[in-house]
Amino acid sequence: MSHTSRIPGFYKLPVEARRRAVAEASDLDLVELARTVGHGGLDVATADKTVENVLGTYALPLAVGLNVRMNRRDYLVPMVVEEPSVVAAASNAARMIREGGGFEVTWDEPVMIAQVQFWDVPDAALAAARVWGARAELLRLADRATPSLVERGGGARDVEVRDLGEGLLVVHVLVDVRDAMGANLVNTVAEALAPTLAALTGGRTGLRILSNLCDRRCVRVSARVPAAALATEDTAGELVRDGVVLASRFAERDPYRAATHNKGIMNGVDAVVLATGNDWRAVEAGAHAWAARSGRYAPLAVWRRGDDGDLHGELALPLALGVVGGTLRVHPGARLALRLLAVDSAQELAGVAASVGLASNLAALRALSTCGIQKGHMALHARSVAQAAGAHGPEVEEVAQVLHTRGEVTMDAARRALAALRGARSRVAECFAAK
Ligand code: MEV
Repeated sequence: MSHTSRIPGFYKLPVEARRRAVAEASDLDLVELARTVGHGGLDVATADKTVENVLGTYALPLAVGLNVRMNRRDYLVPMVVEEPSVVAAASNAARMIREGGGFEVTWDEPVMIAQVQFWDVPDAALAAARVWGARAELLRLADRATPSLVERGGGARDVEVRDLGEGLLVVHVLVDVRDAMGANLVNTVAEALAPTLAALTGGRTGLRILSNLCDRRCVRVSARVPAAALATEDTAGELVRDGVVLASRFAERDPYRAATHNKGIMNGVDAVVLATGNDWRAVEAGAHAWAARSGRYAPLAVWRRGDDGDLHGELALPLALGVVGGTLRVHPGARLALRLLAVDSAQELAGVAASVGLASNLAALRALSTCGIQKGHMALHARSVAQAAGAHGPEVEEVAQVLHTRGEVTMDAARRALAALRGARSRVAECFAAK
């Protein structure tokens, strides 16, 4: 069942009330939600079976990205991230994109690449011809190594041969991994095929491993934002639109800027990847290799003014995400996050992650081309400084407000504001006691 992802005033609610609102706006059970996320979603005994030398677990904030509408469906998006502003900024930009109809997303079939490397290959052309001649047998062998994948509708789809020169030859086996991230499946295929491929190529076997440049598994997102929806307190929407377009051009011409532009995109993408128990290092490696595919590092997303006067954004990147297997087997928090998102496939999950990436990018470019990002950051930074100074519960917001209004976000100012607040409270309490 599809629920709305618009929950006005959500950020103002205390954590308990937010959990209730999310349970009501999804199919999650409140008790289970509170129990699972209350302890970081992973207990120590399970962590101990997940990696080596475990001492405990390490928590990060789990938040919900709002306002996301993709291919005419709403999503409440779990996001795990430590950086202030990322969730608020993505939710805010998603609301603007929603005004233009939401994100439109297309995705490739979930095809990963297994690489098998050979060296000392005596005749690369002959080796390639032999591999090609054995294509059907190789695909059969690959499928035999991954029977449960074949049962789920996936399996080996093709082979490719790449001559890297100097006797180095690499064979790619393309494998449709369906709803898995696919690393284990693809590595199994690479190892299973290596002896046969070695006999065919006459070379010595080298590495047998997936490629994280999974460029057969791309997601493409487009969004239209009505110019008026971009307006800030003191800048008209048309000017903001033009500022975002100029910021995009900057990234298109300058790899130094493109790296930061893409970092802003990955703020959103990684937060979803992490929340859903996926391998964010794999995603990062793939995204940046893809960004550099032309030989020049480029932005993953670009923005233009359309003939309609609105702002149009396009993002494309490879995304190897899974909704079965891997961390999901062991991490109750990640499983719960996926249930909140309620996607039907790994491709749909990739679509949501990429959409949040485009929203994060829009939020950053809009802020950078108007008032700058420090203003927004400072409001959140003020809260963490207030907390570090010892403020609790509602005091955090009150102290942060004082710091923000004074434009002085320091520990010293926070301590003074907290002391003043507590002093004023105790004077009021004394007054009541005396009456
Ligand atoms: C900060 O985490 C991300 C930004 O630097 C992205 C950008 O500059 O586009 C704000």
